[in-house]
Amino acid sequence: MATGLFRKAVSRISSSPASKLVTVRAFASEAQAQQVEPKARDTTNIKTFQIYRWNPDNPSKPDLKEFQIDLKDCGPMVLDALIKIKNEIDPSLTFRRSCREGICGSCAMNIDGCNGLACLTKIQSGEASTITPLPHMFVIKDLVVDMTNFYNQYKSIEPWLKRKNAPEVPGKEILQSKKDRAKLDGMYECILCACCSTSCPSYWWNPESYLGPAALLHANRWISDSRDEYTKERLEAVNDEFKLYRCHTILNCARACPKGLNPGKQISNIKQLQLKA
Ligand code: SF4
Ligand code: SF4
Ligand code: FES
Repeated sequence: MATGLFRKAVSRISSSPASKLVTVRAFASEAQAQQVEPKARDTTNIKTFQIYRWNPDNPSKPDLKEFQIDLKDCGPMVLDALIKIKNEIDPSLTFRRSCREGICGSCAMNIDGCNGLACLTKIQSGEASTITPLPHMFVIKDLVVDMTNFYNQYKSIEPWLKRKNAPEVPGKEILQSKKDRAKLDGMYECILCACCSTSCPSYWWNPESYLGPAALLHANRWISDSRDEYTKERLEAVNDEFKLYRCHTILNCARACPKGLNPGKQISNIKQLQLKA
């Protein structure tokens, strides 16, 4: 298979005018080659990416596969490099992406030891970069992880407006003051990328029972919404030794969030409201 991919890469490369020149040079007679000063290959912009690979159709031990790309011929972000590798070297490389601008949250992965969005993370010059899936998640293939548990936890906090009374004017919006709307800042921006939850040690050890920073940030988002009439019930629903109180305020979550949010702070807010209740 590797040979096939190599052949493919060579045939693709050899179709461009520049590479034809290289090919012609490569097959020039020895005499000609001796007359021409050989030009050293410019390797200053060659970057190595070590990328986690695992294929469920051929399940052997996962490994890191190395790819080398020329940064002069690549966009500036890690996602650009992944797309280049997939398009030009190995089409079987599997990862999620959609918006390419930090909105959809689908390109979350671990880049050189830190969780982040590939589309917002610049390629570091110099040494090799290592790219692995989000930590402590089940891998579906390569960099794609199973988000089922994460989404179910989000669903469990009932992330929608809940009312006991009908709107004052039937069929019209339920209004909110600017001041009350501002209370949602720092929460509504969440894109559910899971960078925070998968960087949280408490979530690593209790992924089934601890809701994790992302779901709890959203719990507080609805607890804090002036239009919602289930604040008390929402506070009770997460008042649990495991669901909420596994958070030990280490704040790895805040460091990992690519949107600059602080889930640990929102979790503290829930705890304070529970003390007052
Ligand atoms: S502050 Fe809480 S949620 Fe954030 S990383 Fe620490 S334990 Fe996890
Ligand atoms: S809080 Fe930040 S890191 Fe966590 S899911 Fe939302 S956007 Fe991603
Ligand atoms: S591709 Fe959408 S956030 Fe990166």
